[in-house]
Amino acid sequence: MLYVPALALALQISVGWAASVSVDTTSGVLHGTQTNGLSTFKGIRFGQAPTGSLRWEPPLAFTSTASHNATKFGPACVQQFPFAVAALNEQLFNTPPPPESEDCLFLNMWAPKSSTPTPVVIWIYGGALVFGSTSIPTYDGASLAASEKIIVVSINYRTNVFGFPNSPDLPTAGNNLGFLDQALAFEWVQKNIAKFGGDPKKVTIMGQSAGGRSVASQYARYAPGTAPFRAAIMISGSAEARSPTPNFNAFNNMATALGCTQDPGAARLACLKVVPATTIHNYTNGPTSGTWTSFVDNVTVFTDPIQRVRDGKTAGVPFMLGTAENDGSLFALGQTNLTAYLAATFGTAVTADQVRAQYPSGSDNAIVAELIRDFTFLCPHQLWSAAATAAGQRNVYRYSYGAVFPNMQVFPNAGAWHSSDLFEIFGTYNRTGATHAEDTLSHTMQTIYANFIRDPTSSPALDWPRYVPGNNTRTLAKLAFNGNVELGNVVQAVRSSLNDAPCDAIWDRFLA
Ligand SMILES: *[C@@H]1O[C@H](CO)[C@@H](O)[C@H](O)[C@H]1NC(C)=O
Ligand SMILES: *[C@@H]1O[C@H](CO)[C@@H](O)[C@H](O)[C@H]1NC(C)=O
Ligand SMILES: *[C@@H]1O[C@H](CO)[C@@H](O)[C@H](O)[C@H]1NC(C)=O
Ligand SMILES: *[C@@H]1O[C@H](CO)[C@@H](O)[C@H](O)[C@H]1NC(C)=O
Ligand SMILES: *[C@@H]1O[C@H](CO)[C@@H](O)[C@H](O)[C@H]1NC(C)=O
Ligand SMILES: *[C@@H]1O[C@H](CO)[C@@H](O)[C@H](O)[C@H]1NC(C)=O
Repeated sequence: MLYVPALALALQISVGWAASVSVDTTSGVLHGTQTNGLSTFKGIRFGQAPTGSLRWEPPLAFTSTASHNATKFGPACVQQFPFAVAALNEQLFNTPPPPESEDCLFLNMWAPKSSTPTPVVIWIYGGALVFGSTSIPTYDGASLAASEKIIVVSINYRTNVFGFPNSPDLPTAGNNLGFLDQALAFEWVQKNIAKFGGDPKKVTIMGQSAGGRSVASQYARYAPGTAPFRAAIMISGSAEARSPTPNFNAFNNMATALGCTQDPGAARLACLKVVPATTIHNYTNGPTSGTWTSFVDNVTVFTDPIQRVRDGKTAGVPFMLGTAENDGSLFALGQTNLTAYLAATFGTAVTADQVRAQYPSGSDNAIVAELIRDFTFLCPHQLWSAAATAAGQRNVYRYSYGAVFPNMQVFPNAGAWHSSDLFEIFGTYNRTGATHAEDTLSHTMQTIYANFIRDPTSSPALDWPRYVPGNNTRTLAKLAFNGNVELGNVVQAVRSSLNDAPCDAIWDRFLA
């Protein structure tokens, strides 16, 4: 049985091994399934359908007193797989392809039975803020919830032009809609999780890549003491202080292509709101579409998030964060000329000689992979960690993940590639060809993350100290390098700044 403080929970036995379990929530009476003590609810609607006149509007809470089956994932939000890299992204992050719909504000929950209020983790998927779905097998929460006796919640949020339209037709603060969707899901958890046995005071938000960036945005957004979470996990993604001026080109070009040729403003928006979502999907996945991302609105995204952390203006809660050793390999595919890559990415601001001085060995492709890891993921983590510790947050746990498994080498020179750690954390790795070490590491990773979720003020694993920046302490946790996969040896604490020299020498000036 779930732990249920007050409200009625009806348990009915149905045919076979799965029982039905019902919980009364603000979204109605939800009928999920229960197997071996794990209750599963899929496709819980938390937001009203953001369609028709609600397209490109802030999400509205969905409330209901009716009965709803919660046994199937809701559709994914309409996705965009940017053209040049579509095939591999779809293979890795969209297999099998889920149904998609603009009506997509659903969340899912895996809740173990417990006699005491249970800690909760909310999973926020990555996908560059242009794609992502809770329903791909990689993100199934059952294994993590059942093994570690924590509640796992996964949430959908709008992406690409639907979630981050960068539209001059909308108010500035009405553009980062995907982040507002996430916050609405957090509110749903605060209101309802106790009815599933969860403890609303013990919620951790966790995301990877653009999900990590989302976590960072949410962290920076809430003033101290106001966040609907008490801890945060940023996996290979955070926010840096870049303040691009909004670029409306992608939206303007789309409007023209779809036949809404009015000047930017209310009339054009009205025209675009009646274009079928399938037509927009076709356009955004075509060869001439731009891409979309968040921009500074001073509500969900700030010009200076790291300074805000340093100044103690943010949620300020404990966090754990880290990168994968080969976080850049996926993004470096096809890049075999360092000079050409730097010119295309940084213009004349960074030279090949400067880079080679920091990355002395390896092919151009290997160097590009390392610098992408550093510039995009690792250096922002360095800055974020330093800012939080400067603000007096003692519970920062920083790591670098290094496990490489032969059956996980899904593209050439993948290594410990961007997202490879998720299969271990969720326990959803490919069982075919999996070694005993991979099985063991998955359990170890689950325990580490769950330890932090249960108590973010204690070390998540043996020999893993609180992070202190600089050269004088050994507080960076190398995780799962050299085949060390047991809970007792998975961490090697190394010099905190071991990986950060290229950040100091080249990249931080673009990020801080
Ligand atoms: C829920 O599922 C049950 C059993 O499969 C079915 O009888 C019922 O019609 C469904 N209810 C709704 C609202 O879809
Ligand atoms: C889909 O997009 C392509 C190119 O982006 C365009 O040529 C085609 O007309 C579009 N089809 C529909 C049905 O919108
Ligand atoms: C956000 O705030 C900064 C600092 O106060 C200001 O310079 C900037 O213009 C603001 N941007 C927006 C979009 O409001
Ligand atoms: C790499 O790119 C640069 C700049 O585009 C070019 O000058 C150079 O010839 C290229 N090197 C190789 C080996 O192709
Ligand atoms: C799982 O691994 C096996 C062996 O390496 C491989 O043949 C298979 O394609 C993999 N399956 C998936 C879904 O990646
Ligand atoms: C750490 O040591 C390196 C090399 O000895 C030095 O370049 C760097 O400035 C030091 N960093 C800090 C934060 O002391």
